[in-house]
Amino acid sequence: MSTVRNQALASSGRAKLDWVRPRMPVLEAIRQRYLEDRPLAGQRVAISLHLEAKTAILAELLHQGGATVSVTSSNPLTAQDDVAAALAETGVEVHAYAEATPEEFEWLHQQVLDIEPTLIVDDGGELTQRLHGNRQSLADQVLGGAEETTTGITRLKALAASGNLRYPMIAVNDADMKHLFDNRYGTGQSTWDAIMRSTNVVIAGKSVVVAGYGWCGKGVAERARGLGARVIVTEVNPVRANEAWMDGYQVMPMDRAAELGEIFVTVTGNRDVIGARHFSRMKDGAILANAGHFDVEIDVKALKEGAVGQVPGRSAAVVGYLWPNGPRLWLLAEGRLVNLAAGDGHPVEIMDLTFGLQALALEQLLQQRMSPGVYPVPVEVDRWVADIRLQALGIGIDHLSADQVRYLASF
Ligand code: NAI
Repeated sequence: MSTVRNQALASSGRAKLDWVRPRMPVLEAIRQRYLEDRPLAGQRVAISLHLEAKTAILAELLHQGGATVSVTSSNPLTAQDDVAAALAETGVEVHAYAEATPEEFEWLHQQVLDIEPTLIVDDGGELTQRLHGNRQSLADQVLGGAEETTTGITRLKALAASGNLRYPMIAVNDADMKHLFDNRYGTGQSTWDAIMRSTNVVIAGKSVVVAGYGWCGKGVAERARGLGARVIVTEVNPVRANEAWMDGYQVMPMDRAAELGEIFVTVTGNRDVIGARHFSRMKDGAILANAGHFDVEIDVKALKEGAVGQVPGRSAAVVGYLWPNGPRLWLLAEGRLVNLAAGDGHPVEIMDLTFGLQALALEQLLQQRMSPGVYPVPVEVDRWVADIRLQALGIGIDHLSADQVRYLASF
């Protein structure tokens, strides 16, 4: 029995699913095999991912592969009610709705875990956290899972290092076909899509500050430049700071960047990257957005407590805060992942790659029965996804001759 906001929204959700399905050739190739082989028969899969149309196609696919599937959203703001309703009609259990309170968000996750999963698909470690917390009794039957994002893998590695991780997890984020495309091109495009649609301001000529020059930050900075912005990067890693400089961006500490920026995007996986001391230095009208996993990169608590007033923005995703004797600052999506909370997430072709890796990672866990730990996606799986994508694009590439293989092996 699913928990969705409004089942009557299903037709709008179905239209979104029908739009993305033909644009996901990697998932389609896996589907053809799943319908025949049913490799997930008998498995119970719990999913915590941002619940929008592409995620629904992954859930539908795993169900078609033979699994019982239950899905929730990995962020209280990112479930789309129409998609949830459409997915609930396909035989997948859905426990998700938009704008869940913290208590509801917790309850929805507990509902998903009630299927007593044998496999998990996690984002940011939401399911793993509970399977090592108040649902520990379920952990022993978990054969393993796949983790979507950088921050989740950081959490998993800490758990594994302390000897407490109870099952194997595959680090999907670290696969080349994931972070080189999802983090860079996906976050790059969808972050600007969300900022532009929620603010309707021009980006050309603006001073944009990107905090963090990792895979996501590179994409956010590159797309800002492409839109005509003057881009400043802040970093704590001197190697990445050099990289940003050589890529042609200004590099400086946030204390200085705070005075220059007109739009700020944090994407570090860290906390308090922008805080009270920066707010007081900012220009009037500065726009603050976060694309990192948790809503702690901009110190929203300090912003709310320090502000002398709050004003509504042009949409629910935009709220203005009046900083004492200083600027009016516009916070997007309450400091949560802007591209998902104020947009539709990554483009479909990108999520096709990421979700293809997720599905194949689950099969890997069934085939190999690994011990607890954090494992990479096998190189062959990365290559297979890359090949299918090239085929879908109609792009051929060269292949090594036998002589070339021998030559490369001779060193
Ligand atoms: P990454 O590890 O490649 O890069 C993070 C960068 O931030 C590093 O270069 C690090 O030195 C820097 N950094 C850390 N603390 C900083 C600080 N105080 N000031 C400035 N720079 C700082 O990580 P990646 O893959 O770029 O991911 C970043 C975050 O975005 C993670 O939380 C990840 O889970 C999330 N993410 C979000 C997506 C989205 O759809 N919005 C998609 C994929 C990842």
